[in-house]
Amino acid sequence: MLRCAACSRSLDAGQPLPWRCPGETGDRHHILLIHRDEPMVSDATRSAIANDPNPFVRFAPRLAWWDFVHAHGWTDDQAIGAVKRLDERVATVAGTGFRITPLEESSSLADAVGLDGRVFVKNETGNVAGSHKARHLFSILLHLVAAEESGLVPWRRREDRPALAISSCGNAAIAASTLAAAAEWPIDVFIPEWAGGVVVEILDSLGARVNRCPRRSDDPPGDPTVHRFREAVARGSIPFSVQGPENALCLDGGRTIGWEAAEQLNARGVSSLDAVYVQVGGGAFAASLSRGLAEGGVRAPLVAVQTAGCAPLARAWRIAHDSTQAWATDWTRFMWPWEHEPTSLADGILDDETYDWVADFAQLESTGGRVVVAAEDDVVLAASLAPRAAGIPASPTGTAGVAGLITEARGGQVRGDVLVVLSGVKR
Ligand SMILES: Cc1ncc(COP(=O)(O)O)c(C=O)c1O
Ligand SMILES: [Zn+2]
Repeated sequence: MLRCAACSRSLDAGQPLPWRCPGETGDRHHILLIHRDEPMVSDATRSAIANDPNPFVRFAPRLAWWDFVHAHGWTDDQAIGAVKRLDERVATVAGTGFRITPLEESSSLADAVGLDGRVFVKNETGNVAGSHKARHLFSILLHLVAAEESGLVPWRRREDRPALAISSCGNAAIAASTLAAAAEWPIDVFIPEWAGGVVVEILDSLGARVNRCPRRSDDPPGDPTVHRFREAVARGSIPFSVQGPENALCLDGGRTIGWEAAEQLNARGVSSLDAVYVQVGGGAFAASLSRGLAEGGVRAPLVAVQTAGCAPLARAWRIAHDSTQAWATDWTRFMWPWEHEPTSLADGILDDETYDWVADFAQLESTGGRVVVAAEDDVVLAASLAPRAAGIPASPTGTAGVAGLITEARGGQVRGDVLVVLSGVKR
């Protein structure tokens, strides 16, 4: 079941295309969160998936998607078969399907950041499309494909499929375009005026329709790519988004990274960490990873990392500390666009609002976590030090979580075992 944290409306598991809360009226100040108990799974299914290298197969019964297809009469075998078929198509476009990504201990990174403890590093640079973003989007695509196969969509013929739409400046756009190509689904990508040439070349090669979005003089505050994206959705495009308030189902598949990290940590005898440092832009990644870890049985305070150049989640968390009100019902008291021009070397996390702040707050609260604002010097230091120490070619955005670790290790605020995720391959 999905339930809105802002207005308490709920949608049952079988609801097709449950992107946004039905009570939402255009401001995106509602967020549908997943509420479910893990279903009973037969021994046959359990053993069929137990050692599967694809996290979407291995953990399929943990997905809200599992409930959706079962509500429409699918068997376990049908569901698993559908995931595998779609994954094969992804592999033909991306060169790899979804595979459990490596998690290693890096003593050289621990030394480099001066931590008295172990640093575990999850490497997402080899995931489909070079970052964790495809995990968020694959659960939306699975839903679309299943809804279409079950005749639950308003279009009848493939040629009449509405286009997918996404706003992003990099990794999410590439992930979305990769999955869209795999499903042969048209996609519009809304990118900033300044987006880099390499990204655009990749998007072009994947057959995406690229829409550059300069700020217009009559635009309200906020990101112009988000405005153009929402206009496309209002005209009927499907929100293929990595932001929960645009498409709640992105928070479903995002958890796979936490489930598999938990399994990898458990295999090393680790069931609790002193912190998990996560770079936060729109906030879906931190919420999903932290929730996945908890659901996988690993206790770890979430440390959400933002940069000094753009820190709306840190601002919101400070306000929440002296607030007695229900957060999501009072959205704009906590979250509004960052007033200054966001700047940082970690340019992929410069979202001027932390769209998924409500899901982040839930994890910050339940794990006893905190938000750290890393100085730009530490962002720069992390970008040069982390890829070398860990031997992983991650971009400055993808090493920004390490900047938070550097900041806290220097200040003596952390010791013991921590997890970081290096995501977003350097292009
Ligand atoms: C490599 C990388 N890490 C982390 C993030 C942050 O994810 P989110 O926007 O869900 O907070 C992004 C987002 O663009 C990213 O590209
Ligand atoms: Zn609502």
